[in-house]
Amino acid sequence: MTPRTLTTALVAVVLGACQIQPTDGIDEEAVQRLRGLQIPAEMAAGEDLYNARCSLCHGYLALGTRRGPPLVHRIYEPSHHADEAFHLAVSQGVRAHHWRFGDMPRIPGTTRQEVDEIIRYVRFLQREAGIE
Ligand code: HEC
Repeated sequence: MTPRTLTTALVAVVLGACQIQPTDGIDEEAVQRLRGLQIPAEMAAGEDLYNARCSLCHGYLALGTRRGPPLVHRIYEPSHHADEAFHLAVSQGVRAHHWRFGDMPRIPGTTRQEVDEIIRYVRFLQREAGIE
């Protein structure tokens, strides 16, 4: 390998490692299933609240963006991040610890009841992706 191809290879590895894929943590089949889902009527309120207040960072269908991690991810399954973690995240914000997106700000003006609706929607998406 010449020094030049070695440099190219190293740059590719470094860039690859820095790129967090929005769908890390679930497989492509699960992503397709989520994209094709009909959201049940009882989740509609949670879906609207989620889209208005969380999706900017956590993404459409909670699949993540460049600003925040996917919530449809194994590390956020109920046994790792119980519902209370959602209440805390919204009321206090989150100091960056699992990822490199930076801190999550607290989301003012979101009531506990609204967070419960959001949790119901996110847990539904997680279940559909096989995360329980
Ligand atoms: C401005 C961007 C942003 C918005 C808006 C946002 N989040 Fe976050 N959130 C983040 C980031 C970044 C993290 C990851 C922090 C880490 O662990 O590195 C995170 C982490 C979380 C976590 C994990 C907390 C933990 O204990 O590890 C939960 C739950 C969460 N967010 C829920 C929500 C909900 C619900 C909303 C909407 C009401 C929301 N977030 C809106 C950026 C955001």
